[in-house]
Amino acid sequence: MSNPRIPRPFFCGNWKLWGTLSDSVALATGVRDAVASVTTADVAVAPGFVALDAVAGKLKGSAVAVASQDGYWEEKGAFTGEVAMVQIADCGASYAIVGHSERRQYFGETDETVARKAKAALAAGLVPILCIGETLPERDAGQALTVVGKQLDGTTANLRDDELAKSVIAYEPVWAIGTGRVATPAQAQEVHALIRSKLVHKLQARAQQVRILYGGSVKPNNVAELMKEKDIDGALVGGASLTVDSFASIVQKGVAACTRS
Ligand code: PGA
Repeated sequence: MSNPRIPRPFFCGNWKLWGTLSDSVALATGVRDAVASVTTADVAVAPGFVALDAVAGKLKGSAVAVASQDGYWEEKGAFTGEVAMVQIADCGASYAIVGHSERRQYFGETDETVARKAKAALAAGLVPILCIGETLPERDAGQALTVVGKQLDGTTANLRDDELAKSVIAYEPVWAIGTGRVATPAQAQEVHALIRSKLVHKLQARAQQVRILYGGSVKPNNVAELMKEKDIDGALVGGASLTVDSFASIVQKGVAACTRS
């Protein structure tokens, strides 16, 4: 007999800057149908802002949830170009990715702004997917654990324990994103274990319920090995989430690998 894995695995496709409205609706519909039989994991897709409402409409009532790729902390006002977390929730999204390394690298996000976004997401009823991860020079200098620990502290400093317990953490080593160079399961597990231990320090037993995702070149052929690691609870998938077949295959293989008997 197999026991359900705790926490429940979670797979989220991050579409980044991709697709027309009709491309987005078609991909979302394909994913919805392809993973309809998956009952032991949560699945979400993160389209671009302009497709959020249409994708959420298509996925309503299905097993696939919707995430935004970002979101702003203010609810309204003179912030040209920004999209509020409350507007994202109003579209029917359930999650908001915050602090993705591309946002940090190209758009000047800091742990402080990411923390404000996470807080606002929670206040709007969204679950933040908080991204943290070291760069290659930081890893090569032996600083991966220090950097990730500091980012975790910085991005969650303003969250109450009950808010942190609801959040999703995504460890995404910057050197593995979009490069085809995936972290080894052992490299990822080492960082996930650090994240878990810091969560235990704050949340005690509730820390075991927090999903810690791995992201960075996750593909159908490497997801199983990653998911076998104790503290890897799912994946944040970029490039390989852009076709129905590869994303559905990641979900199915990931689920199969972590079904414990
Ligand atoms: P990748 O992106 O799977 O294309 O490496 C992951 C991410 O940035 O979330």
